[in-house]
Amino acid sequence: MLVEAPKGVENIGPIRVYYPQSIIKLESKSSSLSALNFPKESLKHILEDFSIIVPIKNENIRLFDSVIRSIPADCHIIVVSNSDKEKCEEEMKVVEDFHNIAGDPIIFAHQRDPSIGSILEDMGYTNILDNGIVKDGKGEGLIIGLLINKCLGRKYVGFVDADNYMPTSIYEYVLDFAVGIAMSKTPYSMVRLLWRYKPKAAGNRLHLEKWGRVSRITNKYMNLLLSSRLGHETKIIKTGNAGEHAMSMELAERLAYAHGYSFEPYQLIHMLESADGLNLKDGIEVFQIETLSPHMHENKGEEHVNDMILSSLSTIYHSRLSNKDIQEKIVKELKDKNILEDDKPPKNIIIPPIRDINAKHFINSVKRESDIFMELR
Ligand code: GDD
Ligand code: MG
Repeated sequence: MLVEAPKGVENIGPIRVYYPQSIIKLESKSSSLSALNFPKESLKHILEDFSIIVPIKNENIRLFDSVIRSIPADCHIIVVSNSDKEKCEEEMKVVEDFHNIAGDPIIFAHQRDPSIGSILEDMGYTNILDNGIVKDGKGEGLIIGLLINKCLGRKYVGFVDADNYMPTSIYEYVLDFAVGIAMSKTPYSMVRLLWRYKPKAAGNRLHLEKWGRVSRITNKYMNLLLSSRLGHETKIIKTGNAGEHAMSMELAERLAYAHGYSFEPYQLIHMLESADGLNLKDGIEVFQIETLSPHMHENKGEEHVNDMILSSLSTIYHSRLSNKDIQEKIVKELKDKNILEDDKPPKNIIIPPIRDINAKHFINSVKRESDIFMELR
């Protein structure tokens, strides 16, 4: 993998956020002053320490099938579903068939599995529960995935969506995660992907857009927040909503999270707000990598996009780093788009770090009590 050398960095207390670095080639024989080369063999030891979490809720089963088949073989796959019963059964069959034919290790869990809820309740980890069952929401599902990986003991974790129309691009995304980890000089690293372009249908043609409707807005307000914290203008944040991202577990276990689709934007907000208090010996590094592959996924409609804008901007509005000017701009943005009826966006539900949770106990109990949980190795 040939990737642009870092072009610059913003230091925010102990956090180093790097400007986006593009993947120049998937394979290269040489490096240069402006490009770093990571041959696939040099990434193998990192991939062997990776779990890839795939959240899924009622997606096209064919897309899901190809997504799990596109994940590099060295990685452990963790599927966390929130699908309806019938879809869930189809997913379990796909997972079993995949394992039978490919042999790769894979775990399947359903976030609304009553045994998962009741075990978490007994363990006192209740912020993600509603009436003893894990709530709906992508963030909630990813927390279950993180707990599973904590138990597996793999050092890195990455997230890829299940609705990708070009699943082989996922092979690249996971290598991009490994490149970010390979560049990192601290145990606390995060890699967030942005797209070279996102093909969108425009009449009978595909138009190559750069930014999604949500990320364009989230990035703008993230940068306003960061600029006010730094005291100079910056536009460094290009990955406010990076669904495809990865972290070292050293970092992942220490972060608090937000529910649903606020999961990714809140990570940045939380790190900016609390990095000094996270008590890390070394700083945090955040890499933003622009993929070579285009990104193409399901179109879930206007309402879904608006929900995502609302929950993303809520994380910024309610940040203690925010100020009146930013808050007013956010409210105006939301009102202009008819997304907000009240005078301010709702507060995000915050999910505490998983660091002190006994993940082995959690998984052993789930294995004992669940009819759905599958661990195939
Ligand atoms: N387990 C679980 N639980 N998975 C979920 C849930 C849930 O409640 N809701 C959605 N998912 C899964 C979807 O099936 C998909 O695989 C993935 O999470 C992303 O959800 P989408 O509904 O496809 O979101 P999106 O494509 O509009 O947005 C994605 O990209 C954004 C950045 O571009 C998401 O990854 C966002 O989180 C991200 O900000
Ligand atoms: Mg999607």
